[in-house]
Amino acid sequence: MTAIESHDAEILGRTDVNDIEAILGVTNTDVNEITHMVKNNADTLFSWDYSLARPQLRKLYEKAKVGQWNATTDLPWETPVDVEGTIAADQAAIGRGFDMSLYGDTPVKNWEQKEWLEFGVQARKWSLSQFLHGEQGALICTAKIVETVPWYDAKLYASTQVMDEARHVEVFARYLDEKLEGGYQINAHLRALLDDIVTDSRWDMTYLGMQIMVEGLALAAFGYMHQLTGEPLLKKLLRYVMSDEARHVAFGVLSLQEVYAQMSDVEIKERQIFAFEASLRMRDRFLQQEVWERMGIDPRKIMPVVLNDPTRIFFQQMLFSKIVPNCKKLGLLDRNDSWLRRRFEEIGVIQFEDFEDTGEEYMAFEIGKDITAPA
Ligand SMILES: [Fe+2]
Ligand SMILES: [Fe+2]
Repeated sequence: MTAIESHDAEILGRTDVNDIEAILGVTNTDVNEITHMVKNNADTLFSWDYSLARPQLRKLYEKAKVGQWNATTDLPWETPVDVEGTIAADQAAIGRGFDMSLYGDTPVKNWEQKEWLEFGVQARKWSLSQFLHGEQGALICTAKIVETVPWYDAKLYASTQVMDEARHVEVFARYLDEKLEGGYQINAHLRALLDDIVTDSRWDMTYLGMQIMVEGLALAAFGYMHQLTGEPLLKKLLRYVMSDEARHVAFGVLSLQEVYAQMSDVEIKERQIFAFEASLRMRDRFLQQEVWERMGIDPRKIMPVVLNDPTRIFFQQMLFSKIVPNCKKLGLLDRNDSWLRRRFEEIGVIQFEDFEDTGEEYMAFEIGKDITAPA
């Protein structure tokens, strides 16, 4: 277990990033909630300077205009989806996602193929549901960026992302409804993260939380599921969404690079802490506590094993493969005596620092290009 250094204690109220009671203490208290209200504390900025000040953002805007697609007509919604068959095939291809040798003395010790298959079905519904709720977060955050960012070029680009995110909400909601017979409520860790991002009054924090952290993780998670699944509708849906997401992450990197280069150490430290707290919340949500509960397993009894399962740890770490190089490109890793670098070392994700950042990678993700081919 890793202790957060004493002078930085109290990240998310914890001194130990793997404190199971603290992780499970974040729960959804109202599972029937329909409307969720968050105070938007930000100023809305007009800009009367319509000159072309940031050509890279304008180039991204042009790409976004021609990269639009129509979820109703471009995806094969008539494809029949055999949920159990798909999950069984995926599990046969890559395993169950756990190191099975570790669970002999846990509440799942008597689970047979049938229970693991049901777990896989629930986990798929849960994952796609969290993607859906995250997409709504992106829709709201990007609409906020249109209002708050001071740059005209960025307002233009952000407006295209609003449309992209509407389409993403549309496709995940439709897939869950028509093919999976419904999904899960938002995970409490994800909701807390979205609340933090929307509540912050500083316009760059919306970008950092959404474009760098949430969308960086989404791009890696979508890529993983796209590669893994043999279900043709889901595969195509994810491929189309990824072509947009890669632009979104690039938008974050290109915008924040300029801002962070001019910030003081004190201001940067606030961004580093924000990025690390977001990382922990995203990592914690992947423990899938609601899925264990749905399967009748007390998360407190299984979490100590899951948290230390090398197979799970490997998948969780892979989710940071876009975030860490992007944080490096923004200069966030090494300012303030490498504060964020040391935190990323503690949660075991620093090895991705020299992976390709997403400032330019979006071109490779355009629809029609083979994203599985080596660069
Ligand atoms: Fe999206
Ligand atoms: Fe996005």
